[in-house]
Amino acid sequence: MDISTLRMITLVWINIAVIVFIMMFYITAPFGRHSSKKWGTMINNKLGWFIMELPSFLIMLYFLCFGSRSFQSYAWILFACWLLHYFNRSFIYPVRIKATQKKMPLFIVFSAVFFNVVNATLNGYYLSELAPVNKYDSAWLTSIKFIIGALLFITGMFINLRADNILIGLRKSGETGYKIPKGFLFECIASPNLFGEIIEWAGFALMAWNLPAASFAIWTFANLVPRAKNHYDWNHQHLQDYPQKRKVIFPFIY
Ligand SMILES: NC(=O)c1ccc[n+]([C@@H]2O[C@H](COP(=O)([O-])OP(=O)(O)OC[C@H]3O[C@@H](n4cnc5c(N)ncnc54)[C@H](OP(=O)(O)O)[C@@H]3O)[C@@H](O)[C@H]2O)c1
Repeated sequence: MDISTLRMITLVWINIAVIVFIMMFYITAPFGRHSSKKWGTMINNKLGWFIMELPSFLIMLYFLCFGSRSFQSYAWILFACWLLHYFNRSFIYPVRIKATQKKMPLFIVFSAVFFNVVNATLNGYYLSELAPVNKYDSAWLTSIKFIIGALLFITGMFINLRADNILIGLRKSGETGYKIPKGFLFECIASPNLFGEIIEWAGFALMAWNLPAASFAIWTFANLVPRAKNHYDWNHQHLQDYPQKRKVIFPFIY
């Protein structure tokens, strides 16, 4: 695949993200607190998370190890960021989440696998086969894009992990119910974990400064802003005395 083909596919993929973004305000993705049997065959929640996220980790690992340009520049730093995130999401997060009997529709698992395969392939292929070698040279490491992007990526990852930790810690082993999370960014927004993930991939896109990375940041935004709204509405409907002052996902804004 040459660069213009990859660019065309990525632009189509970005357009699909815009459509999905609008649709997701009307269709609630049925996993986690929104899980529903109406979407067909269900599988164990933990197994579902593992299957959904593993392809992203494995595909990027493949391109890092076998790509022709992965180690000809500092592009490997971008691979490392991606792999770090997906190592947690594929191997650690599914083990840590509580409510072991919970299920999610197989349809969600297949959709997420498709989403992860496309994103990881576009990003991995670009970084390992198409990126000009001098794009990620030593001057890149001291550029404003790299420094601010890396700071955003690290900050976003910290927020995402800390918020996920607080949520996971709300349940004792065997509990399945929902409580009002307190402290950290939960005092001002409903979903700091999703907010952190958006910041993380926006930082990655700034660091990487290429179309596939921008596309992934756009997709993350398109998936997570409507999901945060679904969480926010659900919280107000199901959690007694849920604080009115909390925003959906962006502190003081939305
Ligand atoms: N890149 C992407 O496009 C994308 C898409 C989706 C998710 N993600 C990431 O995947 C992670 C999970 O997303 P999510 O939307 O499933 O997160 P979530 O609904 O906030 O749930 C996170 C975990 O905390 C539990 N939990 C949430 N609120 C709780 C409460 N009030 N009381 C007790 N337990 C609570 C959930 O249990 P239950 O599962 O039982 O509700 C789940 O195990 C996040 O870090 C998110 O950023 C990324």
